[in-house]
Amino acid sequence: MTPGGVSSMTYEDADIFAFISKKSRPVSAPEKVTVSENETLSGGNSASKISPENEIGGREKELFKEISGSEESSDPATKPAFEELPVPLPETVTETDIQNPSGSDSKAFSSTFSGASELSGLSRAVPAPASSFYPEDSYPADFSEKEELPFEKFEDYDFGISGAPPSLVEAFGIVTTGIEPLEITPSAATITGYIASARRSEIRLGTYVVVPYEDGEKLFARVGKLQYRQEFAVDDATEIHSRRMLNARASPINEADYKFLACLDPLCILYRKKTEGALTRRMADRIPRPNTPILPVTDRLEVQTGLNIPEEGVFLGHLSVGGELVKTHSEPETVAYYLRNDYSMGDPLIFRHMLICGSTGTGKTFLSKNILRQFMTESNRYRLRNASDKARKNPCLVIMDPQDEYSQIFEDNETLTDDDRFRFESENVACGRVQSTKAFVAKVDGQKYPGDKSRAEQIEFTIPFSFVEHNSWLIAATGMSELQYIGLEVLLGDFFKSSVPHTYQNFISHIENEGTRSYYVDSNRIHESSYDGIVRRVSSRFFSKVFDRDATPISDIVDKIFKPGQISVFPTEYISSPRIRDLIVLTIMSMIVDNKLNTTGIDAIKETPIILALDEAHRYLSKANGEHARLIISRFADAARQGRKEALGLFLITQDPQDIDDTVIKQINTKLILNLNNDAAISSLKVPKEYERRIPYLKKGQMIIHSPDNSDIVEILGLSSCVVRHR
Ligand SMILES: Nc1ncnc2c1ncn2[C@@H]1O[C@H](COP(=O)(O)OP(=O)(O)OP(=O)(O)O)[C@@H](O)[C@H]1O
Ligand SMILES: [Mg+2]
Repeated sequence: MTPGGVSSMTYEDADIFAFISKKSRPVSAPEKVTVSENETLSGGNSASKISPENEIGGREKELFKEISGSEESSDPATKPAFEELPVPLPETVTETDIQNPSGSDSKAFSSTFSGASELSGLSRAVPAPASSFYPEDSYPADFSEKEELPFEKFEDYDFGISGAPPSLVEAFGIVTTGIEPLEITPSAATITGYIASARRSEIRLGTYVVVPYEDGEKLFARVGKLQYRQEFAVDDATEIHSRRMLNARASPINEADYKFLACLDPLCILYRKKTEGALTRRMADRIPRPNTPILPVTDRLEVQTGLNIPEEGVFLGHLSVGGELVKTHSEPETVAYYLRNDYSMGDPLIFRHMLICGSTGTGKTFLSKNILRQFMTESNRYRLRNASDKARKNPCLVIMDPQDEYSQIFEDNETLTDDDRFRFESENVACGRVQSTKAFVAKVDGQKYPGDKSRAEQIEFTIPFSFVEHNSWLIAATGMSELQYIGLEVLLGDFFKSSVPHTYQNFISHIENEGTRSYYVDSNRIHESSYDGIVRRVSSRFFSKVFDRDATPISDIVDKIFKPGQISVFPTEYISSPRIRDLIVLTIMSMIVDNKLNTTGIDAIKETPIILALDEAHRYLSKANGEHARLIISRFADAARQGRKEALGLFLITQDPQDIDDTVIKQINTKLILNLNNDAAISSLKVPKEYERRIPYLKKGQMIIHSPDNSDIVEILGLSSCVVRHR
């Protein structure tokens, strides 16, 4: 790529050249400029400026003056070169002209990329012949006819699928072939772009771009690699160079001395089937032409289509790259990320389950409130396949709340401004308190629920011991051997057949009775050591505090808990014993799972769409140790599999996703990954490597969303304020 004349340049020459814009150096009057292809392509960075026959000419000096903004001598030699060029009378081409070229000549989209002046960072009115895209510095003095242009042009260029001409002013750069050939194979692609110096700071790994084709299709791509290369052959790994650079007053690097290259990973081709048809995407199956402009994505629909993001659904956040929002020319300019919540392509994705994971304090609860609130709009209704009446119903949101934070959904976030609300409305973000929020409080001896976080109604309940009849695992402590567990089932089976009231106290008195012991041990129905082990583990003082307390049995208020359109929060923070907390959560979980799975389940559960939000999910769904724990997990995984049929959506929240059993993880379609710094946690999520590497660097509110049936994997930023109270 190094043009003739440059190869003989010495280090000193290059150095002087690099700093020319900062030094007042007498320059010779310009010769009539002969423009070569190399000059045109490299814009203001042309090496021909220092070629022997064209040293640092007046045109170049003018160019540098404009770059540096410094006034140089009033020597006539420094007059703008175009005045001396034998070109047709120039008119001023404004930005509008560039965007709205008239006539077929201007539509001919020269692959020299006529936005070269913009590429070099010179955003200004460019004197040029009318109806031409040629900026003065690339306008060849000797060409007055377009046929004579040395570059390929697009005939009848159609300016884009959105009807508007590509905004050349905004181009990041052009597609090049000088470094690597342009190439696409079924499995890989090499598309290298030269990025203009003025735009380099805007480009990040992951930046989305479009590259237009001549027939209106567009390549939608993502920057997958960035690279600086020397523009001139100099040895910059030297002591003298390093000292000079370190001593430089301003920026030690002159962008014009380097090529800044962006390798584009094609994501898809955007096209319309018919001129007026909907924007669609297909596999990237063609390469862009050399010298085509690389443009930022300015149309929201193009980004959404390019990344396969639904245009509506449950709002999760805004598309971002490296923590910066992707902005378009649409109104609003941000790109909302929605989760499909209708039946247009199968079932709403909440019934394929969601996982929110992030280390402590990364904003899981904040984000969860913002997302869960979205499901609680009056118009959000789901159908139940097996329900007797076919009407669609609002979901019931059941939240297991270990830190007493979710009953605040009953309260507005008073810090929201009218502006915030207006923005939310413009992107269909539901906001504001949900009046139907209720707190269901388990009565536990010696523990009091403070209930001071919100004014939501509180309803007390107790768990009747009879519930254990079909859920023996609830009192089977971890560490119980398989033999003990089998023995416990025998004891419970017999007890529930007896006529004594089925309370916990009666059960304990029964098994502690010496007669009962000899009955089971002497008949060899339960081994002696197992029997004693069972009694020791089951007669834990924890259980006596929670079963059969003085409150309504939960079985009597099922209709009150599982009600369409209601949020039922189960706070557990006020309970000091983790075993009791787990018991309560597991009770609610198994009520939901059993009744959803059983054909004869309770109507209130079976016929209500339920979204079960489980904070600290790893506690309840951890990799099973012991047969009975495996049973619970497999039942839960079954329920997850049936989620779509039964309208049961799991919304799992955890800081330890690696602890959740694989059978459950496999059922989850949508993963929202906040900052995680534990390698085991990160690798358990199985996201592509390039995203995995970013997870430890995610800032608060920034997340990776992996939802294969919803969109391509992308990064999004959650809202920076909470749509309900979060304190
Ligand atoms: N997107 C955000 N923008 C601004 N502040 C946020 C955001 N997300 C969370 N926060 C703030 O960060 C703090 C921690 O958030 P949150 O309680 O949601 O974290 P968490 O992950 O649930 O923590 P824990 O592990 O303790 O449950 C809160 O004060 C919250 O207001
Ligand atoms: Mg939390």
